[in-house]
Amino acid sequence: MKDYLATSLRSRVAGALSDNDVGESVALCGWIHRRRDHGGLVFFDLRDRYGLVQCVASPERLSTDVFTTVEKLRAEDVVAVEGTVLARPEESVNPEMATGSIEVDVAACRLLNESTTPPFPVDVEKEGGEVAEELRLRHRYLELRRLAPTKALGLRHKVTTETRRYLDGLGFWEIETPILTRRTPEGARDFLVPSRVHPGKFYALPQSPQLYKQLLMIAGYDRYYQIARCFRDEDLRADRQPEFSQIDLEMSFVTAEDVIQVVTGLFRHLFQSCLDHDLGEIPTLTHDEAMARFGTDKPDLRIVQELTDVTDAFGDTGFRVFDDVVSAGGRLVALRVPAAGEESRGTIDRWTEVARGAGANGLVWARRHADDWRTAVDKFVDRTHWDAAGEIASVEPGDLLLVVAGEERAAQAALGELRLHVAAERDWVDDRSPWRLLWIVDFPLFERGDDGKLEPSHHPFTAPRGGLVTLGADDPLTIESEAYDLVLNGYELGSGSIRIHQREVQERAFEMLGIDRAEAQEKFGFLLEGLEHGAPPHGGIALGLDRIAMLFTGAASLREVIAFPKTTSASALLEGAPSIADESDLAELHIRVDEPETSG
Ligand code: AMO
Repeated sequence: MKDYLATSLRSRVAGALSDNDVGESVALCGWIHRRRDHGGLVFFDLRDRYGLVQCVASPERLSTDVFTTVEKLRAEDVVAVEGTVLARPEESVNPEMATGSIEVDVAACRLLNESTTPPFPVDVEKEGGEVAEELRLRHRYLELRRLAPTKALGLRHKVTTETRRYLDGLGFWEIETPILTRRTPEGARDFLVPSRVHPGKFYALPQSPQLYKQLLMIAGYDRYYQIARCFRDEDLRADRQPEFSQIDLEMSFVTAEDVIQVVTGLFRHLFQSCLDHDLGEIPTLTHDEAMARFGTDKPDLRIVQELTDVTDAFGDTGFRVFDDVVSAGGRLVALRVPAAGEESRGTIDRWTEVARGAGANGLVWARRHADDWRTAVDKFVDRTHWDAAGEIASVEPGDLLLVVAGEERAAQAALGELRLHVAAERDWVDDRSPWRLLWIVDFPLFERGDDGKLEPSHHPFTAPRGGLVTLGADDPLTIESEAYDLVLNGYELGSGSIRIHQREVQERAFEMLGIDRAEAQEKFGFLLEGLEHGAPPHGGIALGLDRIAMLFTGAASLREVIAFPKTTSASALLEGAPSIADESDLAELHIRVDEPETSG
């Protein structure tokens, strides 16, 4: 039988052989994974992208030349092997190995290319201690030979293929948009590319294809998608890379519900086809509810404990910290930690630091004893208040109640962070349902930045709910948007919205964000003009492909699901980027480098 993967050098792939092939003569190519000599025979595992197969070479059945070649094989040498597939004797069947019930009796073996000793073994079992990430990334092609990265990239490929298949089935067109472009504001710094032909001018690499996809809607291409590469110069974390990919899509003549429906369908399909998992009910929470219950707009629903608002229990306590917050319109937000009444002061102090680090002014604790309370503020707050709070938060004897007082969102967010921290320490994750996907809707249109200025919660092209009229609201922070987020297990997978499709609404939104007409015209004139030429109502979303792949494969970092990722300092260690440019290149670009004195 000839494999569809057969080439002039091989008839089959090694890792996909099975019992069905017993008796078959095969030609295989691959890398030496491991070699051992045993009782005069040489055994080696041959590896390719599909897996491993054990090969056995016997001096009795091979010419001296060939046997000598086999005896000299070393890890990572590339070979071509011919032989017969045999069933292994029962005692040597290896149930750990996909091809563990067979082996290949070698009839011929040719060294295609020798490998020098690898800087770390590809064979993880030989590793003997953690290999530094720097070394692994410098030789990423070796790390990619390992099983886990191979599986991760395979699954990522499946996600993109199934995405294309699904969206194609719904009439979406895949359209590419420019990489050399001008600024698209998504809240990060741009990567700039100097222009040689326009001295002193720069292209920006796109932070997303946002404006182009809106222009495609104006063009009438009512269903667009793209697996789009995006570039953002921002501080990196485990779930952020400077260049990453989005499943970016946009639709015309839709409401938010229409987009949500398409993307929900896409995710049902991806979970089914890639993970063989039925998602079941997918809940929708409002932004308000998510903040009140979880202290975050990307809640991990696998964590069972929720926040509660206990402000009503603390009217007029005589304790200044609480009373001042309440009279200023703030809230008292609580987290119940079941069976933690006996936790040490040391633990509570640590948790207090976590809450402080997340923006809380402090953390008030209360231990619920059998019929009493012991709290950090016994001297100031009467137990009747704690009884009332205990009632609201369903506190039971033996529990600990943690309270943050402050401006509502800030108090929720601080306790939300603490909730995640305590959840990790106390194993609060309910892993009976491993995948908890949900939608968050009814986001505010604006938020207040650190400098007091209004900022878009999503981006400046998001439509206000209710159109132009609502933009006149006395308090702009109360204006709701037509934005929605898709969240999986505590990660924001995607963000989208219905867009502003009328010039005057867009201009008013810019104005509220402190972008005056001249600046709007200079930066976004092409969009504003487009909006005047028959822009249909439209909306869409972008989903982080790398994050989807990371969660689907159970990886701890985006780096594990990107073939050639950047480090946390945005360096590419393998090829050595960024690098110094030649003087002559810089001269052509009219650029002089003014290096900071401290650079080394
Ligand atoms: P947003 O900026 O929220 O929206 O990005 C959408 C999704 O892209 C992923 N993502 C990232 N993944 C890896 N590394 C990064 N640095 C990074 N930044 C973002 C996240 C995120 O949810 N134009 C809008 C979308 C729209 O309105 O249609 C946008 O880009 O998973």
